[in-house]
Amino acid sequence: MPRIIVFCSPKGGSGKTTFCQNLLPLAAQEGFNTLGVDFDPQQTLTKWGRRRLATLEGRADLAAFDVLPADILNDWHAVQQAAQGHDLMIVDMLPSVDHCLPQVLEVCSAADLVVVPSQATMNDADSTGPWLTRLAEMGVRVAAVLNRANEREVFVRALKEQFNRLAPLCPVTVRSLSDAHLGHVDGLSAADNPRSKSRPDFLAVWDYVRREAGLAPARRRGKVA
Ligand SMILES: Nc1ncnc2c1ncn2[C@@H]1O[C@H](COP(=O)(O)OP(=O)(O)OP(=O)(O)O)[C@@H](O)[C@H]1O
Ligand SMILES: [Mg+2]
Repeated sequence: MPRIIVFCSPKGGSGKTTFCQNLLPLAAQEGFNTLGVDFDPQQTLTKWGRRRLATLEGRADLAAFDVLPADILNDWHAVQQAAQGHDLMIVDMLPSVDHCLPQVLEVCSAADLVVVPSQATMNDADSTGPWLTRLAEMGVRVAAVLNRANEREVFVRALKEQFNRLAPLCPVTVRSLSDAHLGHVDGLSAADNPRSKSRPDFLAVWDYVRREAGLAPARRRGKVA
């Protein structure tokens, strides 16, 4: 079975899909045989993955991986079967977990790491804090990561301290950068572009997440656009 990394938060728009769109290429660039799993009924990651397949036809330099659309209510067993033979599964959870909580918790319990992205606002913290506590109390290996945040703001520092009391916190805060969604129209992301300003942020998150999920570092192949 592959290692399983799940991006899951009870708050919509926290950055789950954006992290998947960057960490999937970064993992594949390092030579991990990686599968993306899209539990969002809107299939944002799936549609992006299909556009990527079309782009890849003319671009042998880009890292490749499959994205599997799946229904959180019925498909977890089939997803696990499909993932056999891969090194790594990266799961994009749906925006709201309330109507399918048992299924979401089952997937989280099977994960080597659940990453909970959060924007640095009080509204986000109101949802993210209890979710981190709940997962940690279940014995799930969990990590918070702050997204779209400015380290220099006093509130961001206070939030980091609060999250760090509840669960492990990724030491790298991802900045709010307009090129975080660079290339999405072609199924690409900042991770595919060495000139992207946000690529180093996502690369640092990947380094943290990979280690926390127990994946040994692979040789960095530098396979970027
Ligand atoms: N670091 C960032 N800098 C700038 N924009 C960002 C950043 N991270 C995410 N975004 C933007 O924020 C929006 C929400 O991000 P995203 O879709 O990844 O969140 P999500 O958690 O998957 O949302 P949902 O819960 O609806 O699935 C998107 O428009 C995305 O491009
Ligand atoms: Mg999403």
